[in-house]
Amino acid sequence: MEIKATKGNPTDVAADVLVVPLFTDDAVNRGPLKDIDRALDGALGPAIERGEVQGKANEVAVWPAGGLQSDRVLFVGAGAKREADVEAMRRAYGTAARRVKGAYESVALLLRNDTHARSAVEGFLTGAYEPDLLKAERKESRVRSVTVVGAEDVRRQAEAGRIVGESVNWARELVTLPPNDMTPTALADAATETLVPLGVKVEVLTGDQLARFGGLRGVAQGSSEPPVLITMSWEPGRARKGTTLGLVGKGVTFDSGGLSLKPSEGMETMKADMAGAAAVLAAMRAIAALKLPVRVRAACPATENMPSGTATRVGDVLRMYSGKTVEVLNTDAEGRLILADALAWLAEQGVTHMADAATLTGAVQIALGNVAFGVFGRPDRWVDQVLRSARASGERAWPLPLYPEYREQLRSDVADVKNVGGRPGGAITAATFLAGFVPDEIPWAHLDIAATAWQDAKPYRAKGATGSAVRTFVQLASDLASAK
Ligand code: BES
Ligand code: ZN
Ligand code: ZN
Repeated sequence: MEIKATKGNPTDVAADVLVVPLFTDDAVNRGPLKDIDRALDGALGPAIERGEVQGKANEVAVWPAGGLQSDRVLFVGAGAKREADVEAMRRAYGTAARRVKGAYESVALLLRNDTHARSAVEGFLTGAYEPDLLKAERKESRVRSVTVVGAEDVRRQAEAGRIVGESVNWARELVTLPPNDMTPTALADAATETLVPLGVKVEVLTGDQLARFGGLRGVAQGSSEPPVLITMSWEPGRARKGTTLGLVGKGVTFDSGGLSLKPSEGMETMKADMAGAAAVLAAMRAIAALKLPVRVRAACPATENMPSGTATRVGDVLRMYSGKTVEVLNTDAEGRLILADALAWLAEQGVTHMADAATLTGAVQIALGNVAFGVFGRPDRWVDQVLRSARASGERAWPLPLYPEYREQLRSDVADVKNVGGRPGGAITAATFLAGFVPDEIPWAHLDIAATAWQDAKPYRAKGATGSAVRTFVQLASDLASAK
């Protein structure tokens, strides 16, 4: 799909379909709508009054284009103008994409404001994505070219939108691929194949190189698939001095629960338990393709969590990379074990700031529903910065606390800590466990994406993997690159 940008009057753009976002509080006697209304012989105003065309989010109407140069015009609701943040715009263009992708070859996207250029492209690309990767007959998109129509030159923003949109879709693809194909080794190969050509250094630790990674090895020991630690490094020539962002992503390619076996419904989406790793890989792809001038290092521990005669038992004590001992009282709380090792390792690699993404707990869904991911960490200043980056990227994120009192829930009788803290505050005690493996002097934030990484179908997005946290990480790197 080719992405282009042009400036000028939308009535002059020749495409199979012109996409026009409408707000609930729109007036047709102003701006581009005025020109479009005139080309439609004044039919738009009355149609809006009748409710045939609506600004309500995700409402769609396709019309013959009258005097416009395009063949058809598609009106898509974007909600109230004052609530039209990047995410609202992305959704509007995503809804439009789902409606046009099977029918038209050339699509023009009218921008209601030039600041929407990037979200328009991101929204269109992520909207058009389908997860039917392994079907003989895939739902092909017929769209060959997408042209963003702005008042000024928005080529650069459109290109950034293409990079981020494609990266989000790559994360979704990695998550969507079935766990028999997307093994830890396959995930490492995907990282190498995609990131090395972009200038990212990728090194995959395996076998004896993981000898000290007791958490990762403890989770992997029930599986016949070998575990890996995928390490990545982006060192641009002109990087901001004194800053190295460290990213960690949970890469459990299938979480059966281990001996603390999950019920079968709970297992259905557990191929998505590597969505945190997918988000980190995809963020590295975007950061490198955008050539962001900031150093970034990343580590994604990847393994299956399986039950077998060699699996970790309930009551086993693991000696972690940091030297701490952990009593495993539930083998389904495996994500924190592999993340603890990766966080402790990455902290030794010269990073100045850290963030991780993980489908860590079912409890975060109880706290925040499927709408926002939870953000934990320290100090508050760093957590606030991560929340600001999330907001700027359009992702919904909300803070949860890490008060010292929660540590009591992780006290073990035999080891330094245990890996479960009981039902109360389950997402918080998981984050508290992780905090114990990050040196105090390194600012660190943890994103629990368990409830946002996999979602039901939306008008603007196919069912399944969402690419949660990719845009936040890219924005965070970008904000660090330009920080004063
Ligand atoms: N991968 C799961 C968390 C999860 C649940 C992700 C639902 C996506 C959807 C994680 O490894 C897990 O099983 N966590 C347990 C922890 C508990 C045993 C303390 C959970 O949340 O139930
Ligand atoms: Zn689990
Ligand atoms: Zn898990």
